Amino acid sequence: MRLILLGPPGAGKGTQASALSNKYSIPHISTGEILREAVRKGDPVGVKAKAFMDKGELVPDEIVTEIVVDRLREDDTKKGFILDGFPRTRVQAESLDSSLKEYGIKIDRVVYFDTSASVSIERLSGRRVCPKCGGNFHLRNIPPKQEGICDDCGTSLIQREDDKEGTVKNRLRVYEEKTRSLIDYYKEKGSLKTVSGDQEVEGVLENLSRMFVDEKLV
Ligand code: AP5
Repeated sequence: MRLILLGPPGAGKGTQASALSNKYSIPHISTGEILREAVRKGDPVGVKAKAFMDKGELVPDEIVTEIVVDRLREDDTKKGFILDGFPRTRVQAESLDSSLKEYGIKIDRVVYFDTSASVSIERLSGRRVCPKCGGNFHLRNIPPKQEGICDDCGTSLIQREDDKEGTVKNRLRVYEEKTRSLIDYYKEKGSLKTVSGDQEVEGVLENLSRMFVDEKLV
């Protein structure tokens, strides 16, 4: 199964991608996570990307597209993949289309997480992440067992730099300006389905799982 998860910051794409990746044993490819890893390691791509990410702006298309195109060449994507946070612009979507054509594969489903701005803002402001293993928590919705500590590796949780208030507003603005139009792009191709991102985690996962079974994708 080859999926794209589309939706505003804080819609829950990463949370669902991670659950689906475990459930169906297919890789979760998050451009945000790949870029943050490059920043942590001080790779040249990370150095270039950091300034954009800290401001809540998009990293230039050519950088992000190259990352994804390279990643999709890896063997573990042969049985499927979940793209989370890519594509985010028309240019990225068209580059993805041509790479997939070259690889002789197609996307089975684009899922749009329809999420209200107030929900996105509440989720992003309460999100706490593990700087070591990437664990993703929320102060109220998905709290760690021990306050401020990652359940999986015991590291102290932090707030992402771009989850601070001013940057969140910019990320939502950038989403409206550059990414929202991809809903129509994929609707016109007939590959888009919508789920409500405003529901609780289990509800979204249930809806997605049912959708994939009904469509015989799993
Ligand atoms: P990225 O990491 O992709 O950020 P994003 O799209 O803004 O997505 P988020 O991770 O903020 O939200 P999410 O929808 O995954 O929600 P999550 O599941 O974490 O990108 C970061 C930056 O990298 C970008 O700003 C840009 O600079 C750059 N970048 C990345 N890709 C790019 C690209 N293609 N082109 C150019 N630049 C790119 O959930 C959020 C919180 O809510 C968590 O705390 C979670 O625990 C909680 N939660 C999740 N689901 C629920 C639920 N159903 N109910 C209650 N709480 C929930």
